[in-house]
Amino acid sequence: MRIPSRENCYRLIREMRMMEHIVRHSLQVCRVAELLVQQLGEKGRTLNRDLVQAAALLHDITKTRSLTTGEKHSESGCDLLVDRGYAEVGDIVRQHVKLDTYFASDTPSEAEIVNYADKRVLHDRIVSLDERMAYILERYGDTPEYRARLRWLWDISNLQEKRIFAEMPFSPAGIELHMEKVDLAVELQKVLVPIEPLV
Ligand SMILES: [Fe+2]
Repeated sequence: MRIPSRENCYRLIREMRMMEHIVRHSLQVCRVAELLVQQLGEKGRTLNRDLVQAAALLHDITKTRSLTTGEKHSESGCDLLVDRGYAEVGDIVRQHVKLDTYFASDTPSEAEIVNYADKRVLHDRIVSLDERMAYILERYGDTPEYRARLRWLWDISNLQEKRIFAEMPFSPAGIELHMEKVDLAVELQKVLVPIEPLV
């Protein structure tokens, strides 16, 4: 399995000229996802941390471009990553809005963690699942059919949350308290300003 390093994810983000606020969102999604992986790991539910990290950082890799092209960014993000030789990361990116199958395995998968983490970050703020889903419904629920699909997604995401937190030592609301403190502005600079090798 090929997984891009954090630095290579940052390179791809620069190459794709991701808008700053989408980069900040992605950094936050990655922090949430990493905490969940760590906590699940402590309960003996080992997940591939590098895979989760890369997929979280890159889940919106084509979102900026999609704002002008109208492409479906979950699909095109996957295609881009498959082209670069990162098929497994692409597969998770493709499922970041909606999973192919819910509760396919006994314990949460890497795809499930990235999908859920994205639903806990509104712009660059950690929020409740309800706040994020209410925003999605308001912003994207243009037709009755789509609103119905989003309500279904909201309900199933609630079940997903219960499962992820079943063995956690804190509740979904306690997530931010347990996250490693980082200065987002500093992290953003690392993404946007490449460290040039000394010559
Ligand atoms: Fe997205």
